[in-house]
Amino acid sequence: MPYSTTFGDHFYCRTDGRAECDHVFIDANHLHERWAAGGECVIGELGFGTGLNFCETWRQWSAFQGTTPTHGSLHFISFELFPMDRESIKRALIQWPILEHERERLAAAWPDTPSGIVSLEFDDNVRLSVICGDALSNLATSQQTFDAWYLDGFAPSRNPDMWSLELMQAVYDHTRPGGSFGTYAAAGFVRRNLQTAGFKVERRPGFAGKREMLCGIKD
Ligand SMILES: C[S@@+](CC[C@H](N)C(=O)[O-])C[C@H]1O[C@@H](n2cnc3c(N)ncnc32)[C@H](O)[C@@H]1O
Repeated sequence: MPYSTTFGDHFYCRTDGRAECDHVFIDANHLHERWAAGGECVIGELGFGTGLNFCETWRQWSAFQGTTPTHGSLHFISFELFPMDRESIKRALIQWPILEHERERLAAAWPDTPSGIVSLEFDDNVRLSVICGDALSNLATSQQTFDAWYLDGFAPSRNPDMWSLELMQAVYDHTRPGGSFGTYAAAGFVRRNLQTAGFKVERRPGFAGKREMLCGIKD
C-alpha cells in the first residue's frame, strides 16, 4: 500500500483503489458516454502517482472499444511532481491481477529516470503524457484543453496546493465546454474554489462509505 511520507497520505483508498477510480473518476465523469460518441478524449489528471488511474482507465477504454462501432482515441495527460521509478509502480500495481496487461506495458515503456514530458504510445489508440514538475506551473503554461479531469492530489488537508483557487482556475480555463471533473475531495474550500473558478459543482455519495465526493461540469 504506497504511502507518501512527504504528504502523510496514502496514494489511494485502502479499501480498493481500482474500484475507487471507477466510482470517483470514470463514472463521475460519464466517460463511457463520452467514449460512445467517438473522437478524441483527453483526460487530465493532477497526480500520476503509481499510474493506477491510468491503467484502470486504459483497461476500461480497451474493453469499451470492443463493444462499440465508434472509434476514438484516448490521450491521458497527468501532472506529477515526484515521478515514481519503474519498480515502485510495478510493486504498487501487482495487487490487481486484472491490470496485468496494462501494468506490464506501462512498466516496460517507463523511463529509468522520468523527467520533462514522458510521452508513451500504447495499443488501442491510447497515449500517455506525464508532465513532470509542479502541476500549477505546467498547466498554467499549457496550450492543451481537456474533456475530463481526475483531481487526485492527496487529501486537501495534507496538500492544499493541489486544491488552490489558482490551480482550480487553471483546470477550469483548460477545460473544453461540456468538460467535467471528479474528485474524492469534499472539503468546503475545494468546493468553493471549483465553484469560483466557474464549474457547476455537484455533491455525490463518496466511495466506500465516504459521505460525499464532488463532480461537476463546465457549461
Ligand atoms: C493521491 S496521489 C495520486 C495517485 C495516482 N493518481 C495513482 O493512480 O496512483 C497524489 C500525487 O500528487 C503528486 N503531487 C503532489 N503535489 C504535487 C504538485 N504540486 N504538482 C504535481 N504533482 C503533485 C504526488 O507526488 C502524488 O504522486
